[in-house]
Amino acid sequence: SSNSLYTSHLSLGFFFFFGFIGIMFQDITTLLLDHKAFKYTVDIFVDRYRDMGISVVAGVEARGFMFGPSIALAIGAKFVPLRKPKKLPGEVISEKYELEYGTDCLEMHLGAVQPRERVLVIDDLVATGGTLSAAIRLLERVGAEVVECACVIGLPEVKGESRLNGKPLYVLVEPRQ
Ligand code: PRP
Ligand code: MG
Repeated sequence: SSNSLYTSHLSLGFFFFFGFIGIMFQDITTLLLDHKAFKYTVDIFVDRYRDMGISVVAGVEARGFMFGPSIALAIGAKFVPLRKPKKLPGEVISEKYELEYGTDCLEMHLGAVQPRERVLVIDDLVATGGTLSAAIRLLERVGAEVVECACVIGLPEVKGESRLNGKPLYVLVEPRQ
């Protein structure tokens, strides 16, 4: 079934390894190599979000860009990239967030999202939730409504959901660590 295909693909296809400083990396690029598994992943999100009145899919650079546009096209929404600093050519707003070592920043074009638009935020993975929390702050600053954050992988041990300002988090898999 599609379900067992998905489960076996995810468990076999991800490369898990611990870096020398103890950060865990999870690579979704093997998922993208498998047409059935990639399509199944996108279809799960599309089925969930197609009738929720969502007009914006906001994807987080870089790996949120691998899933967001396909979902946006399928549900009839626009795609808004949330980018790392100094990448967007127009006028932007910025939000900093904490990393394990240091800080980073996400930027969004002013005017890309209108007040009260309903937004899905998409990324490949949630760990501490710092990245998604910056995405939520950007969207709320322009008056948008973040309906949900969605990721392929969630690392529940890190309790990222608690940093999302009460926004719901939807993840497809929670690998054992
Ligand atoms: C990774 C991942 C998520 C984020 C999750 O991105 O793609 O965006 O970390 O971590 P958090 O929940 O603790 O914030 P990263 O910035 O490492 O690189 P990328 O540009 O390859 O997506
Ligand atoms: Mg990322």
